[in-house]
Amino acid sequence: GGALSTTGLRPGVRQYQAGDVAGLRACLEDWLTNPGALGEAATQVQQAARSLRSWQSTAIDFQRALEDLLPPPDPTTFDSDWLALREPADHLARNKRLLSEVLVWAEQDYCHPGVLSGHHAPPLLVVDLGTGTGSNARYLVPAMTVPQRWVLLDQDEHLLALAGERLQHLDVPLETHACHLNAKRLAGQIPDGTRLITASALIDLMSEDWLEALAVAATRHNAGVFIVLSYAGNVELSPADQDDDWIRETVNEHQHNDKGTGAALGPSATNYLKQQLELRDYQVSVAPSPWRLTPAQSALQRALLEGWRDAVMQQSPSERQRAERWFGLRLKQADEQSLSIRVEHEDLFARPARDGVA
Ligand SMILES: C[S@@+](CC[C@H](N)C(=O)[O-])C[C@H]1O[C@@H](n2cnc3c(N)ncnc32)[C@H](O)[C@@H]1O
Repeated sequence: GGALSTTGLRPGVRQYQAGDVAGLRACLEDWLTNPGALGEAATQVQQAARSLRSWQSTAIDFQRALEDLLPPPDPTTFDSDWLALREPADHLARNKRLLSEVLVWAEQDYCHPGVLSGHHAPPLLVVDLGTGTGSNARYLVPAMTVPQRWVLLDQDEHLLALAGERLQHLDVPLETHACHLNAKRLAGQIPDGTRLITASALIDLMSEDWLEALAVAATRHNAGVFIVLSYAGNVELSPADQDDDWIRETVNEHQHNDKGTGAALGPSATNYLKQQLELRDYQVSVAPSPWRLTPAQSALQRALLEGWRDAVMQQSPSERQRAERWFGLRLKQADEQSLSIRVEHEDLFARPARDGVA
């Protein structure tokens, strides 16, 4: 019935007149008694499905058609759909060796004062900076083996409200606070008693001043610092293309634009924070946490490519044609599920000098 009777006219699809149960029965009987024909139909229909247009591709066409008519996107706001799309890839990419270092440290940190005083220690207070919809807490809360309490900070009230809803099922006390985290006030914005300061997919947006303020704030609170999934500047696409390096360099230049706290450090953020923490006697480890996007992750690939596309168009408007060729090719490959993308990220864990642990 309806439009399907036209759009369904594809290899591998059998149709019957709506209401004609005998006709339907004949189709089914044919396939059930002839597995070879059923297998062939399944293969054909899977191939045909690849060329089907989705509502998402139509929405993207609209967005592209409107692109020149709308103001550029605000670099300080993040779309909850984008955060939801990237969450599984983020969780998979996180460096598990570094995570276990954090878990061991958290257990020692939690147990130490309790053992000394003979009293129950209070839950470990963890603060998540730039929490978005709470991806970092969704990953860390179940991984951590000690009693915890969380404070989630973000400037975006809408994302924070989603975080509150989507973390409700976790059995730990957590509070959300809307605030713009800024270099001058950061130490005061992090609550007293914080033992672990964490953030995911955040620090590449931040300026030198902000990262220095983070190191100062962590030292003042004598807290551990666990910062994951910071963009590290390297991207590899397979199959390769002659303009891959140009696109990567242009995206990396765009990374340094101001995202609300001054010129962002982009791919240099982790190294800069490491130096700032080491200056304050922290022991710092950095480990890779790359996204390895397979051809099947075409929705995330598409969203990532669209983000790069905005960045390249803003950064090099005079090279529009060159960029259009590359993005046209890459988006087509993503849709056809013939593209792999590797994006380098880094995780950092820093333990304070005065650990309280012998
Ligand atoms: C890329 S998103 C990452 C969100 C989340 N941590 C995740 O991994 O899904 C960056 C988040 O940082 C927040 N943010 C950026 N700059 C901020 C600032 N100066 N103060 C507070 N929040 C900020 C944004 O609102 C956004 O939610």
